[in-house]
Amino acid sequence: TTSASAGGTRTLISDDPSNNVTPYIEKLVGRNLHLIPNHPLFIIKRKIEGYFAELGISFEIFDSLDPVVTCTACFDDLNIPPGHPARKPSDTYYLSEGTLLRTHTSAHQSELMRRGHERFLCTGDVYRRDEIDASHYPAFHQMEGVRLMDVADMPAQLSRDEWLASDACARTAAELKGTLEGLVDALFGPVEKRWVEAYFPFTEPSLELEIFFQGDWLEVLGCGVIHSEVLAKCGLEHRHGWAFGLGLERLAMILFSIPDIRLFWTEDTRFTSQFASGEVVKFQPYSKYPECYKDVAFFVPETWEENDFMELCRECGGDLMENVKMIDEFTNPKSGKRSLCYRIVYRSMDRSLTNEEVDEIQFQLREKVGPKLGVELR
Ligand code: PHE
Repeated sequence: TTSASAGGTRTLISDDPSNNVTPYIEKLVGRNLHLIPNHPLFIIKRKIEGYFAELGISFEIFDSLDPVVTCTACFDDLNIPPGHPARKPSDTYYLSEGTLLRTHTSAHQSELMRRGHERFLCTGDVYRRDEIDASHYPAFHQMEGVRLMDVADMPAQLSRDEWLASDACARTAAELKGTLEGLVDALFGPVEKRWVEAYFPFTEPSLELEIFFQGDWLEVLGCGVIHSEVLAKCGLEHRHGWAFGLGLERLAMILFSIPDIRLFWTEDTRFTSQFASGEVVKFQPYSKYPECYKDVAFFVPETWEENDFMELCRECGGDLMENVKMIDEFTNPKSGKRSLCYRIVYRSMDRSLTNEEVDEIQFQLREKVGPKLGVELR
């Protein structure tokens, strides 16, 4: 193993009452897939950096910043208000009340701008408590891009409304759109794309770029003109600029035809050896092993959070669970109790599973779900 793939060497779990990091997550921190030469995420990262290098304006590269950040950096600096859903412990891994695993690379925007960086690309692993299926994994990788515009281009201090209505703001947005359309063309070749209005607390206006892929519009990035309050918090009230954030797995799954997000984390050489050329190549699936599924049904308490169940599933089954989905829900009219039934699809990426091991995982899950989540098995 190279140092880039040695995860789990760092203790992130503690008995701090806010700590909700699990052993499963702790092992992922430090894997740094985006730094492993010829890993698909590394290849995409390089391609994007190459596109920006060719624009002729140099962007500094940051790809080794610590994924443990403060709430200030991840939320407050970005105008994300207290009580915002992104801050909920059901959605986010906290180490303590004030520190967490970054939920997006935007967590580094303000600190880098404060240190005087004006154009940069910042890549890293980000963590979100989430559902279990082929395109969701509790850790994934993002790249952030930030560009502050030249001072000479910018009008003197304006009110927020004057700024939003100004030509300079429109020019900044146009420059951003042109840059990102060029990026998508560079990655995908000519592809149908559209801009959708969006909302982020740290950009204004905010936009999402979607591409037409396999009959559907697929969101590939979020971006916008940096919010004046975000700049003000960095002591940059006299400056303007743009920012974007994109998910590397999303792009890589399309470009390499990688069908399941868990594959990025496998160390199976049948996967890793396919990308030795460092080029974008189509993934040749090795045999897909058989799946099997098990259902579990229970009455849930009022305080039920689905993500807590997903976390417990990962704790018990790790990467052997391919999909966890609610398939039935009803409320008993007499008792008012709500019952949910989940279907768990088991499949390994690398081998055939035995009935015994699947039964054992399912047994563990059934044993733990009552005491841990206050449900009543049916
Ligand atoms: N951080 C946002 C996300 O994770 C993406 C984003 C980055 C949006 C920068 C605007 C500007 O969804």
